[in-house]
Amino acid sequence: MMDNRSIGVFDSGLGGLTAVKQISKELPNENIVYFGDTGRVPYGTRSKETIIKYSKSDVNFLLSRDVKVIVVACGTASSVALPVIKDEYDLPIIGVVDAAANAAVDATVNKKIGIIGTSGTIKSCAYEKVIKNLMPDAVTYQKACPLFVPLVENGHFETQVARLVTEEYLQDIKAEGVDTLILGCTHYPLLKKVIGEYMGENVTLIDAGAEVAKSVKKMFAENEMMIAGCQKGETDFFVSDDIDSFESLGGLFLEKKIDGRVEKIDIERY
Ligand code: DGL
Repeated sequence: MMDNRSIGVFDSGLGGLTAVKQISKELPNENIVYFGDTGRVPYGTRSKETIIKYSKSDVNFLLSRDVKVIVVACGTASSVALPVIKDEYDLPIIGVVDAAANAAVDATVNKKIGIIGTSGTIKSCAYEKVIKNLMPDAVTYQKACPLFVPLVENGHFETQVARLVTEEYLQDIKAEGVDTLILGCTHYPLLKKVIGEYMGENVTLIDAGAEVAKSVKKMFAENEMMIAGCQKGETDFFVSDDIDSFESLGGLFLEKKIDGRVEKIDIERY
């Protein structure tokens, strides 16, 4: 059995493109439909009710594109909305939290795990709950890093400002001696170099988007959900705001030019 439908992926904006990059790497033949809610970004600072409402409309839009699975490539929506909405739909919806928490538990030796994400993600304690379930004696250290998303969206990946903010946010987690740090927001891989330099080479950084890509691949293999044939997969991009800025910044997240079709949609209709 094969399944030729696409993989639906959504994020509050651009961050999920880091997951798209990894999904394309793991599953190069699959077609992807990406929705970036650029008109309503950020999600990370909003209330639980709003994040749930937005996530539902994002899922509904992707369902209208006939997808076989939905990947929530947003730490905030995965932490806050997914536990509430996932049973309302018939298709599998996979978030970044379980995948990243599993990888962190596998990686840690001293059982001290740091978690960074948006305010919404950290407030939900979603990563912490999954880690404690998997490894009850693990000790977790959480920190909301609200300036990271605007830094990344303004191209501050390896600048002095990025280094300063990193130090400010991560000094306590570093002092606790964690050996594993979950980058719980899909924007953060763009800061991986600066974060890695600050934390030191003995700390394993877990990229939530990369981990969810591996989970999807595993699920497809176990359930025979792969696309038939060996053609190169294509990605269609949809956004809820200006196409030009998505195309120019999106290339940095994908680490290649956005070469698929980009279309603006009215997400309020879904
Ligand atoms: N990419 C989102 C996440 O993973 C962060 C951006 C936002 O706050 O909307 O949490």
